[in-house]
Amino acid sequence: MDNRPIGVFDSGLGGLTAVKELEKILPEESIVYFGDTGRVPYGSKSRETVRRYAAQDMAFLIRHDVKAVLAACGTVSSTSADIGKKLPVPYFDVIGPSAKAAAGKTRNKKIGVIGTSATIRSDAYRKALLAIDYKLEVYSQPCPLFVPLVENAFISPQEEVTRLIAQRYLGPMREAGVDTLILGCTHYPIISAIIGGVMGRGVSLIDSGREAALALARRLEEEDLLCSGEGPRQAAFYVTDELENFTGVAELFLGHSVEGRTERIRIENT
Ligand code: DGL
Repeated sequence: MDNRPIGVFDSGLGGLTAVKELEKILPEESIVYFGDTGRVPYGSKSRETVRRYAAQDMAFLIRHDVKAVLAACGTVSSTSADIGKKLPVPYFDVIGPSAKAAAGKTRNKKIGVIGTSATIRSDAYRKALLAIDYKLEVYSQPCPLFVPLVENAFISPQEEVTRLIAQRYLGPMREAGVDTLILGCTHYPIISAIIGGVMGRGVSLIDSGREAALALARRLEEEDLLCSGEGPRQAAFYVTDELENFTGVAELFLGHSVEGRTERIRIENT
């Protein structure tokens, strides 16, 4: 048993897709969330820069005495896993669990992967998928405009601009006939209604934040690291830019208030 909080981080709002799932399946666990909203997006930055940011983000969570770290960010997961694996607590990321879920779901063996430019360039999802089944056909597409759309709250299912951009990005995936699509950036599930609408009913969407949260929950349970459930549940959110930009979308997405629990910090100085 371990009563310490679970640490979750992302470049911004995307990691909330993992938090939402954790709140659902492990409602008694405390969570420390870090969203690097002052430096988002990571996905268009160089590998070296993303790795430097990722190391700082992980160190921040470790200083908060977390029992596990979840990189709820496809970009960090695909560039910085070696840094995470050296942490003194169990480290989880989104690649393996999402690849496993997609490989288990597809019927025609055609899987699409969308992510940030850095994630798609790394080829991490394709490698993970082919390691599970080398006969899978993997179609990849970077969608760099999705993250700023989400961070700026263009997330309603009726949002015309987001739908038009989704049609441009996802057209080739549809034509290739994929039946399963990995939302390989954790920001994307926040606009899954739009993505799903463009892809059509027959296509299963894999939420990378959710899959990572499920994998983490399974492992904590197996290793007897869940909390006792006796103490009060804590949830703290740390960001590196204006609180309002974060709290508006966070509350809409999580379905509860984060007011009074969100704090702005300077990551460079921590
Ligand atoms: N949510 C992140 C990801 O999963 C990062 C988006 C970004 O900062 O570009 O890739």
